[in-house]
Amino acid sequence: MKGRFISFEGTEGSGKTSVIKEVQKYFQNQGYTVLITREPGGIKISEKIRDIILDVDHIEMDARTEALLFAASRRQHLIEKVIPALKEGKIVLCDRFVDSSLVYQGIARNLGLEEVYSINKFAIESTLPDLTIFVDVRPEVGLKRVFNTPNREINRLDLEKLKFHQKIYQGYLDLITKYPKRIKKVNGEQPILDVADEAINLIKSII
Ligand code: TMP
Repeated sequence: MKGRFISFEGTEGSGKTSVIKEVQKYFQNQGYTVLITREPGGIKISEKIRDIILDVDHIEMDARTEALLFAASRRQHLIEKVIPALKEGKIVLCDRFVDSSLVYQGIARNLGLEEVYSINKFAIESTLPDLTIFVDVRPEVGLKRVFNTPNREINRLDLEKLKFHQKIYQGYLDLITKYPKRIKKVNGEQPILDVADEAINLIKSII
């Protein structure tokens, strides 16, 4: 495939969505075609699955159901949107990908990293990002941002206790140790343009 697939990861309120927009601006100005998309979502079917997963009314949702729905959403999004864009030579900036499932479902929900990876292998086959950027913001800082931002959508996972978010944060740090070539960290607790600069430099090194 000609394009480049870059995923962004982080805890709640890490600011990765704003960082992605800055990164897109930069590479578009350099003449690249850059597609922003997100998980779960990005296309009709996956946005519908997103609504089911994140609905604050669905407190009875079983953890394995949750993991399977994320994987189903991922599969459809990958086939319908990400892979065609990569074939066209685009830079794809994806707000979350498989690492979110490894950390949120595998570690924080205690389903096990290997189990969650195996259902995701079925969903993604061998497609992994060329680069994954972890926007590093401590969970206490991120959650404060979430709850202090007016009109921000609060979802079912935002409502989990601080301990759950701390497990996610530690999970990401462990994943970086496990996949140091693919996953790189940027400091998300600095002004957004500085965070974006760090991300841009990492991306430059792979395109
Ligand atoms: P967002 O807030 O970045 O849009 O992501 C939606 C929520 O879904 C967020 O709390 C992280 C969570 N999530 C998982 O638990 N597993 C996954 O595989 C993905 C993609 C997201």
